[in-house]
Parts: sequence; structure tokens; C-alpha cells
Amino acid sequence: MKLELLHSDLLAWFDAHQRDLPWRKTKDPYQILLSEVLLQQTQVSRGLVFFDRFLRAFPTIEDLASAPLEAVLKAWEGAGYYARARNLHKAAQVIAVNGMPLTLEGLLELPGVGRYTAGAVASIAFGLAVPVVDGNVRRVLARWLCEATPTDDWLWAYTDGFLEKTRPGDWNQAIMELGATVCTPKSPSCGSCPVSSQCCAFLQGRVASIPAPKIRTVVKEIKAVALVIGNNGRYLLEQRPKKGLLGGLHGFPLLEIASDRQQTLQELLERYKIKTSARFVGVVQHTMTHRQFQIQVFEVPSTLDLLEQPSSLALSRLDQKILGLLEQSEAQEVLLLEHQPLFS
Ligand code: ADE
Repeated sequence: MKLELLHSDLLAWFDAHQRDLPWRKTKDPYQILLSEVLLQQTQVSRGLVFFDRFLRAFPTIEDLASAPLEAVLKAWEGAGYYARARNLHKAAQVIAVNGMPLTLEGLLELPGVGRYTAGAVASIAFGLAVPVVDGNVRRVLARWLCEATPTDDWLWAYTDGFLEKTRPGDWNQAIMELGATVCTPKSPSCGSCPVSSQCCAFLQGRVASIPAPKIRTVVKEIKAVALVIGNNGRYLLEQRPKKGLLGGLHGFPLLEIASDRQQTLQELLERYKIKTSARFVGVVQHTMTHRQFQIQVFEVPSTLDLLEQPSSLALSRLDQKILGLLEQSEAQEVLLLEHQPLFS
């Protein structure tokens, strides 16, 4: 493999074919940090929406630092992995006091900033010659070098060795871009790859089997009961504990089913001192990285004055789905009522 040729071919391809993305039009480290945090668990198409929404809410790092956490979570609503938003908020508060760190080591000290994010900001915003490794880089390097099971140490060592030092930010983005648009996991477009002539897996006809599939992590199935207290668009919503699953977000009261659903429902009703019986609304399925939720949703009407409008709070996607189910069931009821014969 000729490193110089690899550098010039891939950078020329990146210059001609890179996607038009808003964070590539700026050197503002805050915007680049935001984009890299977002893109860690969110696809570019969805990332674009949240990037725009978040920047409108908090145009500068000072705006973000001085905002209440609730407003930050609201702007992040729907993007998932809310620890990212909480950490970004904390990082903004550190930066507002100490200034933006200008070195890799300084960036690594920010809350929630690991090797990938620090490397991306350092190279893209500051032009520092440091590599990045993400899922796309992993696949591209594994194929270039015919390494079916690359370890983290191997990846960081090779990305460091392969780095193009005059345009490190573009180089890092070019590998990620190649992985996202050409060197894809399934049916990669080797015919339009600018560096296929230097790719070991392509030359040996092994692209389909490199890298080898990762052993899947076990997904835990969780069955729970959600209790909807309220009506007419106002509900009792509780804030989940700051630490832990969906931390800091608001949601419907939820309890994991230990033995049977009736007993769990009863426990929830007792917790809120509700004497009336609850109506079964339906089931919501929701998948997170390591968890698969099956939520049985029940509702009881209430006019308590603790009730809140969901649109004013940050709700997780799971709770948004429960809300969707309620709206659907209300619409069906209206429809049924409208079709009742007037005289029977
Ligand atoms: N994935 C995450 N960050 C990226 C970037 N800056 N360019 C291309 N793909 C990415």
C-alpha cells in the first residue's frame, strides 16, 4: 500500500464528493463538538434535524451553559441517548468558565468527551494531527488491511500511522465519509471507490466477510405497566431520577412487571392513591440498545391539578409512543361515538 497515493486519492475524492453538511461550513468548535456528539448515535439524516434545532435553541456555548437542563433535554428530545445532552450541557458550563480547550488532552477532560470526540474536534476544528476511530473507520481500515477482527488498540495504532498530517480533519472525515457512503457494511460500492486498487479485501475478493460480524450483545426484555393519569391532553408526568435510564426526562408513571401485570397495575394505582379502576389502552413496544420494552398502557381519568401538558416538558421516545397510543385511542373513540345511531 502506497500511503502517499492513498492520501491523495481519498482526499481528492472527498473534495469532489463529500456531502453538503452544515458543520462542514464552520470552524466554530462548539458547532463541531455538537455535530460529533450527535453523530455518535444518530444517523446523519436525523442528526441534521437535531443539529439545526439545538443551534436555534442555543446558538452559542454560553447560551447552552446558562440554559436550564430541562430546556436542553427538550431541545434534544427524540434524539435518544440523553446522557449525551446532559454531558454536553456540563461541558458547556466548564467551557463558559475556562474557555474552549485547544489541545487533545484538554478536550479529553471535558465531561462526556472521549477519544473519538476529542480527536474529531481537535482535528476538524483546530487542525491538530490526531486520528479518530468510529464504526465507519473500523470497517474501512479492516478492509484496507484484511484484518477481520480488529481490536481497538490495532485500530488506533493504524489510524495514527495512516494519518494525513497536512489536512488531518479532512482526512479523518474522508475515511468516515467513505465508510458511510461507499464502503458500507452490506453491498459496498467498490466500483465507485477511489481507493479500491489499494484495498486488500477488494483485491482478495473478501469484502463481504471483512470485518467479521461482531457477536451480538444480549438484549434484555423488559415488561412494564404505564399508568396514564389525566385526560384532555393534561397528564401526571413524573421526572425520572437524574441518574439511570432516561434520567432527568419526564414520563408517565412506569413500573416493571415483577410477577403479573394486574399486581403491578394495582401497585401503581395504590402509589397514586387511586380508587377507580383503570382502562387498558394498548401495548407500546420500544427498543433501546440493550433493552426491549413491552409496555402495557392503562389509563384513569383525573382532574388533579398536578397535571401537565407533555409539550412543555422533555419526554423520551418511549413516552412519546405512549402519548401517540393515547391520541390514537381517543380518535377511535370519537369515531365510534360519531357512528353511534342517534335513535335506537
Ligand atoms: N461521522 C461522524 N462525524 C462525521 C464527520 N465529521 N464526517 C463524516 N462522518 C461522520
